[in-house]
Amino acid sequence: MGERTKTIVAGIAFDSYVMNASGVRDTTLEELKAIADSGSSAVVMKSSTMEPRQGNPEPRYAYFILGSSRGREVQGSLQCMGLPNEGYRKYVKFARIIKTGCGKPVFASVAGLSEKDYPILVGAFQDGEADAIEVNVSCPNLEGKALIGYDFDQVRRILDKIPKQPKPIGLKLPPYLEQRQIQEMADIVKKYGISFITCINSIPNALVIDGTQERPLIRPKKGLGALCGGCIKPVALGNVKMFYDILRGKVSIIGVGGISSGSDAFDFLLTGADAVQIGTCFEKQGPACFARINRELEEILERKGYKSIEQARGKLKFLGE
Ligand code: SIN
Repeated sequence: MGERTKTIVAGIAFDSYVMNASGVRDTTLEELKAIADSGSSAVVMKSSTMEPRQGNPEPRYAYFILGSSRGREVQGSLQCMGLPNEGYRKYVKFARIIKTGCGKPVFASVAGLSEKDYPILVGAFQDGEADAIEVNVSCPNLEGKALIGYDFDQVRRILDKIPKQPKPIGLKLPPYLEQRQIQEMADIVKKYGISFITCINSIPNALVIDGTQERPLIRPKKGLGALCGGCIKPVALGNVKMFYDILRGKVSIIGVGGISSGSDAFDFLLTGADAVQIGTCFEKQGPACFARINRELEEILERKGYKSIEQARGKLKFLGE
């Protein structure tokens, strides 16, 4: 990894700007070891629940090409996984195994099915080997359950009760569509001493139809799933920018949503992200994507004369300035 793309998230040093996103090829120990052996600058584990879960019926994931924009194919994926995972006790063990000898940060991710799960889940990882804990308040795929990140009082109640030390706590956030939602969430982030935010999780309740078959691409929720990949990148960038304008480097921001090249990563860097996570592209291309995207970002930074992430972070220029 080159020097230019070293970064810091929540006070933790990362060897590069690019890591895996929770939820993609990170559920089993074998998958986590593959991420540890890859160019990903961290190992982010699948969101774990109190008990193991099978998740939703298959097919629950579909990759598609939406069209092309500025000479590039715009890809997307639709997923309604339903939090398949091995239960948090396993991930506490996995974090210990992965930490041994891997030399990179390990991030736990937790998803409660009810408010009372969160203190237990976070507490288990606070006592374990993971370096940081991403609290997922944005899983869009649980039928009959409201998406927590849109209920700010519920987020406050959860944050009131979870143990916030010694490991840094992050929030994995849903996409927000209004500035006032971003402001309210940023206020919560500041009030509770959250160290990093990961934005955005996928866009809920999207529908992609196979017109030939006259039916949706996936089975759960009558075809409604969460949209990921290149087609959500503008929304993700908008959220990162709005949070960065308020948080201004005091809280780390991990950008996620449609990054499949160094140029995508550079857009997130200009917008204010301290690091990026890769989901759909990792699912499609496998672990080689991390080193490639980081190398492409290195080349862009070198060409433009930026010597570090810090020099380029948040340096987006505006028309008319
Ligand atoms: C899932 O397992 O349903 C995805 C989790 C998430 O997007 O938060």
